[in-house]
Amino acid sequence: MSKQQSYDVLIIGSGGAGLSLALKLADQHQVAVLSKFALTEGSTFYAQGGISAVLDSQQTSIESHIQDTINSGAGLCDPDIVRLTVEYGKQSIDFLHQQGMQFSERKNKKGESELHLNQEGGHSERRIVHHADATGKTLSLSLIDKAKQHPNITLLEHHNAVDLITAGKLGLKQQRVLGAYVLDTYSKQVKTITANIVALATGGANKVYLYTTNPHISSGDGIALAWRAGCRIANMEFMQFHPTCLYHPDNNSFLISEAVRGEGGKLILPDGSAFMHHYDARAELAPRDIVARAIDHQIKKHGIDCVYLDISHKPADFIKSHFPSIYQQCLDLNIDITTSPIPVVPAAHYTCGGVMTDEYARTDIQGLYALGEVAHTGLHGANRMASNSLLECLVFAQRASEDILRQNLNHPLPNITGWDESQVVDSEEAVMIAHNWDELRRFMWDYVGIVRSTKRLKRAEHRLELLKNEIADYYHHYRISSDLLELRNLVIVADLIIRSALARKESRGLHYTQDYPDLDKTHHAENTILIPPQD
Ligand code: FAD
Ligand code: SIN
Repeated sequence: MSKQQSYDVLIIGSGGAGLSLALKLADQHQVAVLSKFALTEGSTFYAQGGISAVLDSQQTSIESHIQDTINSGAGLCDPDIVRLTVEYGKQSIDFLHQQGMQFSERKNKKGESELHLNQEGGHSERRIVHHADATGKTLSLSLIDKAKQHPNITLLEHHNAVDLITAGKLGLKQQRVLGAYVLDTYSKQVKTITANIVALATGGANKVYLYTTNPHISSGDGIALAWRAGCRIANMEFMQFHPTCLYHPDNNSFLISEAVRGEGGKLILPDGSAFMHHYDARAELAPRDIVARAIDHQIKKHGIDCVYLDISHKPADFIKSHFPSIYQQCLDLNIDITTSPIPVVPAAHYTCGGVMTDEYARTDIQGLYALGEVAHTGLHGANRMASNSLLECLVFAQRASEDILRQNLNHPLPNITGWDESQVVDSEEAVMIAHNWDELRRFMWDYVGIVRSTKRLKRAEHRLELLKNEIADYYHHYRISSDLLELRNLVIVADLIIRSALARKESRGLHYTQDYPDLDKTHHAENTILIPPQD
């Protein structure tokens, strides 16, 4: 049995949220950061469009960012959280500058350099700082570089958090977090890592759908871990589908940034006709839920595989300099975006709901924080506005650090029983995991996708019930692997999404159901809050 390892703070996740928090705490505390695969492998690395942030000090600019966010959120944003997040915008970009991150610049009328600002759906003005169309890669590499240099940060790659350890689960009276059981996927050992503070920064759950823009780590682990530990989870019906994912047999998860539409890209049908103006006066720059639903509608109406995004009317040099990665990635697939339209379809992109937190990223369990895409802070409401997610990662890393740095982390941690493998054997049925995995993601896509109905949701619920039992049985009898852990978590996430979707008797933001096609204007808009069963 491996020895217990202890840190002041254990951060589960090495994306924008996790690494920012680590860097903000490491001068005072010993911090361990877990990453399921390579450090870079998370949505952060793949972010394209940028980070929305008001950089000038004008109150009107702050108010307009707040208002756009609230408009996109379709009545469910928490106005205090929106204001707090927007007001931390400049400080967040300053933090990234301090970590050595570079941003795209342009010359202003006076010939001076200033940050170039992108435009995306839902934003009434340009306010998105970026690094060409590879903002996330630059951000990730800057943070990883700094974290590697810090003597108080231990980076544990290929370490998969299995479950949280809480005092409650050990039969102790108080309800606080004590650490986590973690599978080292190289040695295949389950380690016991204890800490006074644990932060979930595990990203989203979009891999629960067959088609997604997300990397494979996005299996909602943090949401499932928190749920099993006893935290409330909110608004899981609001899964965001990005309107424009590349449609190509050799790459069906590459994102075509919303910034392409921000620079004048038009959505067209195979015959070249535009259609977005039929759905919304803002046309291509309407919020995502509206654009994704419009595309879905056109695809179904015409029986076509995809629609097209056309930016080829812009000068080739402009396209290549603004979107170098998208240009190259498409060219590698024989699509020259300077001369041809890009085939696109919607795909699962962002988890608006998640682990319920307060304004300091604190969850229901003492010592347990959640930040980044795993969290539900109240910022996004029923539909996240583009480029508000990286901002949220940075702001709540700052807020959590403010709260953690106020605390004394010298509480002695109890000795915790190690992981018990005496009752399990090696699995001989990997095919069962692969099959269930595929089945789950397919029926979630078919029955719990962009357009829902009670009948389809019920059908998904029934299918899920069968899977749940099979996987629980498998988990208790066989030695764990990363695939099994992810499948176990995805089943919980799917259950939370379906239950939340069935509970909402209206269409709002990203949740659209044919049985209740309208907004419920007779009642005050409410979050969907699910409470875990007590043991
Ligand atoms: P992630 O960056 O996803 O990191 C999650 C981390 O948790 C990873 O290190 C992973 O290994 C780890 N992890 C997960 N489970 C476990 C476990 N069980 N054990 C150990 N480690 C675990 N947002 C914007 O604001 N602007 C954009 O331009 C933008 N573009 C995007 C483009 C794409 C293609 C995608 C997919 C998303 C984009 N988003 C964008 C959304 C944004 O990138 C994400 O919401 C954000 O990066 C999430 O950061 P995070 O730190 O919460 O999680
Ligand atoms: C994009 O570049 O379109 C992604 C932006 C986001 O998801 O916020």
